[in-house]
Amino acid sequence: MYAKYDMSKEVAIITGGAMGIGLVCAQRLAENGAEIILWDRDSEALEAAKAAFNKPVATIQVDISDPQSVAAAMAASTKHHSRITQLLNSAGIAGPAVPTLDYTAEDWCQVIDINLNGTFYVNQAVLPTMKAQNYGRIVNVASVAGKEGNPNAGAYSASKAGVIGLTKTLGKEMATYDIAVNCITPAAAQTRILEQITQQHIDYMLSKIPRGRFVLTDEIASMVAWLLSAENSFTTASVFDISGGRATY
Ligand SMILES: NC(=O)c1ccc[n+]([C@@H]2O[C@H](COP(=O)([O-])OP(=O)(O)OC[C@H]3O[C@@H](n4cnc5c(N)ncnc54)[C@H](O)[C@@H]3O)[C@@H](O)[C@H]2O)c1
Repeated sequence: MYAKYDMSKEVAIITGGAMGIGLVCAQRLAENGAEIILWDRDSEALEAAKAAFNKPVATIQVDISDPQSVAAAMAASTKHHSRITQLLNSAGIAGPAVPTLDYTAEDWCQVIDINLNGTFYVNQAVLPTMKAQNYGRIVNVASVAGKEGNPNAGAYSASKAGVIGLTKTLGKEMATYDIAVNCITPAAAQTRILEQITQQHIDYMLSKIPRGRFVLTDEIASMVAWLLSAENSFTTASVFDISGGRATY
């Protein structure tokens, strides 16, 4: 049913790969033949995620907000795989759904540390390997919140706007290599991240989507699969909208 790509020579790292968008995208890459390395901070979820694949996948516990943990995860990944050709940065948190004026500095920093700084640490850890092999495809998962700015999601929106800026910069810096760095900006999807926020905030996000429904994780995986495939040989430093008509730019 879905477009097929030859990923038989690909080795993919998926952060936040133990559940949600990361896991569904990892399954799609695996179905296309890629070897899978799931990175996540939740070791129980990582163990459970193995059952979602019909072939062995590697799992590595990592906190992407800690650069030393990321370096260790990269060392563990390259110990068993000489190439890393695909990277999906899906790990992220929502943070509390409160007005920006009520945000504690601690909550603000935690969201920025994981969603933005963590995405930077992982890109920085993986890109030297991609440069050395002159090949790589990266997708950073931003959000429509990073384009639009959602009320009661100040830290989240700011972190995802930062991911968009980081992606544009890295894409240009890597453009003379056969490396593509792009990001996606999904609307709300029904995953466990929604458990972190209020029903009122979920209703607000849903009310803003002209399609009138949540985006499916499989729909996100279809976009990600092409972006991470060898067929995506030209487009880089770009923002791919999957917001169901909410952000038409
Ligand atoms: N679900 C949505 O509505 C939606 C919409 C737009 C963007 N996104 C983004 O998509 C990405 C995936 O979200 P999801 O919906 O799959 O959520 P999810 O909660 O189902 O999955 C997130 C995963 O990231 C992991 N993670 C969190 N912090 C981590 C850390 N510090 N180090 C390593 N792993 C960590 C979690 O353990 C979890 O497995 C996130 O970046 C999120 O912001 C989600």
